[in-house]
Amino acid sequence: MIDFSLTDEQKQLQQLARDFARREIMPIASEYDQKEELPWQIVEKAHELGLLNTGVPEHAGGLGLGMLDECLIGEELAYGCMGIYTILMASELGITPILVGATEEQQKRFLAPLMDRPALAAFALSEPNNGSDAAAMHTTAVLDGDEWVINGSKMWISNGGKAELTTVFATTDRQGGHKASVAIVVEGMPEGMSANKIKHKMGQRASHTAELVFENVRVPAANVLGGLGDGFKIAMKTLDKTRIPVAAGSVGVARRALEESVKYAKEREAFGKPVSSFQAIQFKMAEMLMGIETGRLMTWKAAWLVDQGLPHGVESSIAKAYASEMAFDAANEAIQIHGGYGYVGEYPVEKLLRDVKLNQIYEGTNEIQRVVIARSILK
Ligand code: CAA
Ligand code: FAD
Repeated sequence: MIDFSLTDEQKQLQQLARDFARREIMPIASEYDQKEELPWQIVEKAHELGLLNTGVPEHAGGLGLGMLDECLIGEELAYGCMGIYTILMASELGITPILVGATEEQQKRFLAPLMDRPALAAFALSEPNNGSDAAAMHTTAVLDGDEWVINGSKMWISNGGKAELTTVFATTDRQGGHKASVAIVVEGMPEGMSANKIKHKMGQRASHTAELVFENVRVPAANVLGGLGDGFKIAMKTLDKTRIPVAAGSVGVARRALEESVKYAKEREAFGKPVSSFQAIQFKMAEMLMGIETGRLMTWKAAWLVDQGLPHGVESSIAKAYASEMAFDAANEAIQIHGGYGYVGEYPVEKLLRDVKLNQIYEGTNEIQRVVIARSILK
């Protein structure tokens, strides 16, 4: 049987996130986009409301929310601002390798402190010379007594340098491919670790992105997740889950694009009538709604599979690629519906386009999603 109804708790969660987006995020989204600054007060308020690090399991002191819950929150927050949502989404991404690959003792040790205060996590896989080819990492980890010594640099890390906990993927042998990979949890900013903020992003400018540099950074041996050779697979299993909230955020952006378009098209007149009366404009809005409904269905299906403990990697890639492209098209058409006014920052639609472009690139480009999907077809 198929049942699309949400539980009362899920409806409440959705409403909480919707109110939070309207009350706290939307009024400041444009300002922080312009300032290129992470609004820390949002992290604090999200923590207070239970909207931060929602995946931390109950045995580690968290709420242990499911993937569908996370997607319900994500759609609403991204409706308010995709860049601000990325701060919270990247934190869930940062903790997911610990859910996927850590022992229960490690989960309690690493995750419980994140629940006590407003604190972010980060996920450091990409490097300056390899993003899509994630197994080709150059950052090294060498075991020296009871410590790992990390050297190298990680590129484009969301929350990089702001996070209290960063999951770093490294290699013990650059010629060893994924079989030499390790996943190591780095707490805080130990000596030798530094962050260089990446400025002038096209969009999502309220999210903080940095290059992380590691120079002989020493981390306890006990901070490794799984064992030697498990790092790459932990990263892949993580992304199989965390691409779904990217899809949810994309649906939120598309919904905003549609709602802004409806509002404007009803008010703006041309040839003596509202532009909403032209069928050319109505069809754009109809296409948007078709895309939103389809994208949400794919997202919810993938999230449901995760929550049921069923295989979900391909569905996750399908949802991420489809929803991010659908949302990009919706934002583009929203600008078209706004005419010249859509092209300037006075209206929110140009920011939607700038922000959602990234959804086609991060958490694996949409070409890589197609690689994953095509391999599943041909295997
Ligand atoms: N789950 C479990 N194991 C997996 C797996 C998965 N989803 N995918 C691959 N593996 C295993 C394979 O079975 C194989 O294992 P064996 O050798 O033991 O058989 C091993 O991993 C290597 O697999 P492949 O040969 O398929 O690996 P590949 O080198 O061809 O890479 C890829 C596959 C899909 C292209 C992968 O590199 C990839 O996903 N790249 C994109 C990276 C990415 O998404 N980065 C996102 C960074 S985070 C981010 O962007 C966050 C943000 O913005 C907020
Ligand atoms: P490349 O891998 O160099 O790709 C260049 C082009 O070639 C792309 O179009 C790609 O799709 C295409 N291509 C490559 N290989 C193939 C192939 N096999 N088949 C077809 N086409 C291919 N990473 C993290 O680890 N953590 C983060 O928190 C994080 N946050 C990010 C935030 C921002 C703002 C940005 C811009 C990126 C972030 N990333 C993060 C990195 C992101 O995941 C990578 O940019 C992405 O995976 C692509 O890697 P690349 O930039 O090296 O592109």
